[in-house]
Amino acid sequence: MGSRDLILALLVIGCANAQLFRVCVVENNIRCQNLDKDGSQVACLNVQTSVECALQMSRGAAHVGAFTEEELMLLAQRNTDEYRVLGTVRNVNRMVPFAFEAVAVVPNNHTNGFEGLRGGRYCHPGLGATDMRWSPRVLRTLETMSARTDRCTGVTQGRTAEELEVETLSSFFSEACRPGPWSANATIDANLKSRFPNLCAMCSASGTCAGYNDPSAVNVAGVSNRDAHIQALQCLVTNGTVAYVAWTHVSQYFSSARPDLIGNYSLLCEDGTLVPLSTEVLAMPTSPCSLVRQPWSAIVATTASADALLASLQNWWPDGQDPSGNSWESNLFSVLAGPNTRVAFESNLTPLLSPSNFTSPIRSIPAIDATASCLPARRWCTMSAAEHEKCTWIRTAAYTLGIQPAISCQQRANEFACLRDIRDGNADFISIDTHYGFLARTHFRLSPVKLVQNLRDSTSRVAALVKESVTNEISRFENLRDKVACFPEFGGLAFMAFVRTAHERGVISSSECDYARAVGEFFSGSCAPGALDASHTIYESSTFNASRLCTACRWSSPAFANATNSEFTCSWNNTNWYFGNNGSLLCLNDPNTHVAFVETQNIRAQLQALGMQNASFRALCRNNSLAQNVGVDVPEDCLIAHVVDAEVLTRRNDQITNSLSSLLDSLDQLFGYNIATAEQLINIRIYSPFLGRSDLLFKDSTIGLTEPTMDTNHQPARNYIEMFRHLETCTSAAAPTTPTPGKAVRAYTSLLTLIVMALIAKIVN
Ligand SMILES: *[C@@H]1O[C@H](CO)[C@@H](O)[C@H](O)[C@H]1NC(C)=O
Ligand SMILES: *[C@@H]1O[C@H](CO)[C@@H](O)[C@H](O)[C@H]1NC(C)=O
Ligand SMILES: *[C@@H]1O[C@H](CO)[C@@H](O)[C@H](O)[C@H]1NC(C)=O
Ligand SMILES: *[C@@H]1O[C@H](CO)[C@@H](O)[C@H](O)[C@H]1NC(C)=O
Ligand SMILES: *[C@@H]1O[C@H](CO)[C@@H](O)[C@H](O)[C@H]1NC(C)=O
Ligand SMILES: *[C@@H]1O[C@H](CO)[C@@H](O)[C@H](O)[C@H]1NC(C)=O
Ligand SMILES: *[C@@H]1O[C@H](CO)[C@@H](O)[C@H](O)[C@H]1NC(C)=O
Ligand SMILES: *[C@@H]1O[C@H](CO)[C@@H](O)[C@H](O)[C@H]1NC(C)=O
Ligand SMILES: *[C@@H]1O[C@H](CO)[C@@H](O)[C@H](O)[C@H]1NC(C)=O
Ligand SMILES: *[C@@H]1O[C@H](CO)[C@@H](O)[C@H](O)[C@H]1NC(C)=O
Ligand SMILES: *[C@@H]1O[C@H](CO)[C@@H](O)[C@H](O)[C@H]1NC(C)=O
Repeated sequence: MGSRDLILALLVIGCANAQLFRVCVVENNIRCQNLDKDGSQVACLNVQTSVECALQMSRGAAHVGAFTEEELMLLAQRNTDEYRVLGTVRNVNRMVPFAFEAVAVVPNNHTNGFEGLRGGRYCHPGLGATDMRWSPRVLRTLETMSARTDRCTGVTQGRTAEELEVETLSSFFSEACRPGPWSANATIDANLKSRFPNLCAMCSASGTCAGYNDPSAVNVAGVSNRDAHIQALQCLVTNGTVAYVAWTHVSQYFSSARPDLIGNYSLLCEDGTLVPLSTEVLAMPTSPCSLVRQPWSAIVATTASADALLASLQNWWPDGQDPSGNSWESNLFSVLAGPNTRVAFESNLTPLLSPSNFTSPIRSIPAIDATASCLPARRWCTMSAAEHEKCTWIRTAAYTLGIQPAISCQQRANEFACLRDIRDGNADFISIDTHYGFLARTHFRLSPVKLVQNLRDSTSRVAALVKESVTNEISRFENLRDKVACFPEFGGLAFMAFVRTAHERGVISSSECDYARAVGEFFSGSCAPGALDASHTIYESSTFNASRLCTACRWSSPAFANATNSEFTCSWNNTNWYFGNNGSLLCLNDPNTHVAFVETQNIRAQLQALGMQNASFRALCRNNSLAQNVGVDVPEDCLIAHVVDAEVLTRRNDQITNSLSSLLDSLDQLFGYNIATAEQLINIRIYSPFLGRSDLLFKDSTIGLTEPTMDTNHQPARNYIEMFRHLETCTSAAAPTTPTPGKAVRAYTSLLTLIVMALIAKIVN
């Protein structure tokens, strides 16, 4: 809320003084405040990410911001006329035109361009080094040009993008050293390294791919001889056919360490021609030819304010340098440029360029929709315009960085439309509340590709709440027989948690796989909204009349305020007063009901909204005893389920699962919470609110992803898997590879469940 107030305050200031330029500051309150010092002519707009800055600029809420090299490429890819590049931010010691140039160095006798590298020995500086600031796309440029890793040959189904890539490379090059992770998933990485050892043969301990020999013989002034580019060049002159490295290191290496070899090597240019190295060539600040030239990071303004801002900045920062001192001008320099930099302003004599016009002569990435790739794009199902916008930015950011496979975004009306489209092959994945986990598995035949990890306080916690006034008759699960129960939704998490607990307590038959019947016949009445709707079918061949699961539901319409049972509703929207978690609380307040199965994580706010703060409930614990205290603060070991709040779903046993899983690993690594803002090539956050809007694509409570297996070390994720393992055994919603279980298997499973639960209980205690 604080930052929102601040934004408001700044907007007010901005209106009062039309001269004031608003500058984006990414998540730094102190910096933001310091911009207001002493007669400052700028104001700060605190933003969560650089991408948010770009959006605030297009809305007119900000005028100027700083963008990294790859963020500038992202803006270029968006290709709008809303922005202008005012100048580039360069390293004060390297006032060359580009942030870096990636070049291919080959021996002079090389022939036949990129195809001539076939069968050759390839020296690469390594993947995954964040300090290098080479995106996956840059790191792979030589490979795409020579081995054509963007074209698939052979079977792609069921395989990951990195597997297809490495397989192509392995057959194109005879040997290589390509250190670093080939996949964000360590298991896949190790597997690929063992299957394609020739791509590590030129590394130090061949096979480990950990990097190069310590070239103690190499002595390059001012550069560590452990620098990966220097080592790749050393690999080239030892026994290589090509090295793919940064131009500055080529100059350093040959001039300083191996001047004797300058006459023996050439640059391989984009058109396949060679430019021999020479002392003169090596002294040039830019390479005579390169495969990638990277623009510097830049200061970008809105089109309307660009000319005025450029004039002002040139005035505030003479020669593009930090005016220093503790002035607001210097603070502004820290915000937009940073330490050890100097700004090279675009000339104010010619019109300022948009990011795409600015970058296109330097580096151009084909338009996202015009690019063929080896694997088809994975289709992310979105459910609102805001979610779709966030998805589109993530898609473009991932594409700009060269993440494979690509993403596309498909907007649908709601969760069920997404689940249906994924089932029918019209979309591929979605992150969705675990509330719908069972329905997604049974009715839509989906399965998880990842589970989320949650903040500790936002996991889904299901409790059985009994009215305090009836705790004299209800103190164990068996006492619930022939009572009246409230569920937020039929087939939802709370409903399934009850089924599982009731199985565990032996109060409903675990051989009854029609859970509507099992629950419907156990209680004398209940409200389980949706029980009659085809969209909520969890057991295809049910013969049970599920009306019995809706006898306690009530219309919310005033026309039915005094409704009797004749005004029957089972709808699963707010026309049913007792629909949803808050509806179940209201249901429990009804004099005819006894117990409600609800999620407790937001329960206080819900009770308050319903005016029920003082209602008195007591939890019936999973171990079959009443909680010691009255109230909704249910202790963890009393909950009937404690699981993650969301999961990423795709079609069950689908060929795309593996590539989707590693795509999500890459997104987590680049745009998740494990990477610091300063290390991100593009500052966008998949798990965070987007422009102040919460729970888009992922819930705000998400902190990362985890595997949908019992190996995960996130306890709520293990609980979730364990719960479905139990429930799916019966409805045979499990993968078809699992044999249809007979009674013996089921008994064994529930025994296993009990053992696991006992162990978990032990660990928790
Ligand atoms: C280039 O010369 C090296 C060393 O003289 C030799 O090993 C290699 O086969 C030659 N390559 C070509 C393509 O002729
Ligand atoms: C890595 O991928 C393998 C194979 O797809 C999968 O079984 C495993 O759970 C993944 N592990 C991690 C940590 O992502
Ligand atoms: C260079 O590589 C080739 C092919 O792997 C190998 O036969 C040769 O012995 C190597 N030469 C040196 C000097 O390492
Ligand atoms: C470099 O080139 C010179 C002249 O062409 C040649 O004599 C020398 O053997 C070459 N050195 C290497 C290591 O290939
Ligand atoms: C960008 O380039 C296009 C094509 O050359 C030109 O029509 C357009 O005016 C330029 N726009 C900007 C803002 O530089
Ligand atoms: C289910 O039961 C309700 C209420 O008893 C009844 O009105 C309805 O006709 C029954 N539906 C079927 C399909 O038997
Ligand atoms: C509902 O019942 C109350 C009192 O029993 C009565 O005052 C009210 O008018 C009734 N409302 C309707 C819509 O029948
Ligand atoms: C609520 O659900 C009922 C059926 O269950 C449907 O007829 C009605 O149109 C829905 N209302 C809204 C507002 O979605
Ligand atoms: C429950 O919460 C939803 C969403 O906040 C709201 O639309 C609905 O009216 C609430 N239901 C009741 C019974 O208050
Ligand atoms: C409900 O609780 C609040 C705070 O605990 C208290 O101030 C209020 O008097 C109570 N209301 C009733 C009706 O008991
Ligand atoms: C069951 O769990 C509750 C909640 O922690 C605990 O207070 C109680 O002692 C346990 N009862 C038994 C019989 O284990």
